[in-house]
Amino acid sequence: MSKLHTSYLGLKLKNPLIVSSSSLTSNIESIEKLADAGAGAVVLKSLFEEQIQAETNEMGETLSHAEAYDYIEQMGMSLGPAQYLELVRESKSRVDIPVIASLNCVDGKWWKEYAVQLDSAGADALEVNLSLMPRRFDQKSGDLEKELIHTVETIRKHSSLPLAIKLGPYFTSLPEFATRLQKAGADALVLFNRFYQFDFDLSTGQPKGRVSLSSPEDYHQALRWISILFDRAGVELAASTGVHNAETALKMIAAGADAVQLCSVFYRNNTQILESILRDMEVQLDSLGVSDIQDLKGRYAQKRSEKPESYERLQYIKALTGLS
Ligand SMILES: Cc1cc2nc3c(=O)[nH]c(=O)nc-3n(C[C@H](O)[C@H](O)[C@H](O)COP(=O)(O)O)c2cc1C
Repeated sequence: MSKLHTSYLGLKLKNPLIVSSSSLTSNIESIEKLADAGAGAVVLKSLFEEQIQAETNEMGETLSHAEAYDYIEQMGMSLGPAQYLELVRESKSRVDIPVIASLNCVDGKWWKEYAVQLDSAGADALEVNLSLMPRRFDQKSGDLEKELIHTVETIRKHSSLPLAIKLGPYFTSLPEFATRLQKAGADALVLFNRFYQFDFDLSTGQPKGRVSLSSPEDYHQALRWISILFDRAGVELAASTGVHNAETALKMIAAGADAVQLCSVFYRNNTQILESILRDMEVQLDSLGVSDIQDLKGRYAQKRSEKPESYERLQYIKALTGLS
């Protein structure tokens, strides 16, 4: 058995590297290339709530996800729900790695039907992107969290698929919220979604939001939170954002990730880079003396540290005061 074998969401993966939801996973040709390059699994491009609304002629006056403008309009990625189900079926028939469907939703009401249909189309699991942009000035953070929890409960009630919840990094008390997500039915958390970057043209005021790719330095926030949540929140963890090489992928595992999602690295290079990242992971495991990646999992999680405080404020104080 390969030293990279692992499991995530109850699925057997030949390695922990998953291609994140993106335009790379929106068509079968690209999905086949990623599978050939060695991906452990793929998360399909998201089906956005707004796309379902559009198809059912109930589009509200605004798109609720700031990101949906970007993903749907600028990227021209408007697979409707019917085409989406077809993509799930086709992917399952053409590649032999797990295929995780992705929904990007605002509230629970649309998902009952689609969660069931994704299951019968053959999806191996479901990832739900709950990275909402709060936009109402009268909405309290606690109320927003309650709505998110309700969404997860609703999906859980209607789908028996293994369920991963993808979050943005902006929560006041992530440990508590993670525990509530688990109780609501989440099997895994994907930390973190990367929001599109807002900008506008100074002379016209025209918004210029666009997808911005991460850089190899953007992984620290996910690393910290995975190391803090490992073996404490009752959920599996997948890293997302800033994983561009083997070393960072292995750090995520050592922090406690069950799987590692990659996206920008493929846009910055090409999909073939996956093969060299996998090779490098094997080499680096050898040099660490690790023969099975499971032995590395959580090795440097906060829970297992003799100095758990060093994961939090102490490190910050040291940095600011120049102590070593
Ligand atoms: C072009 C592009 C399209 C994306 N589309 C989606 C999407 O439909 N659903 C989603 O949950 N995340 C989407 N993402 C976010 C990625 O899945 C990933 O979480 C993010 O890019 C951070 O990972 P990275 O640093 O490896 O790029 C997209 C990212 C990019 C660059």
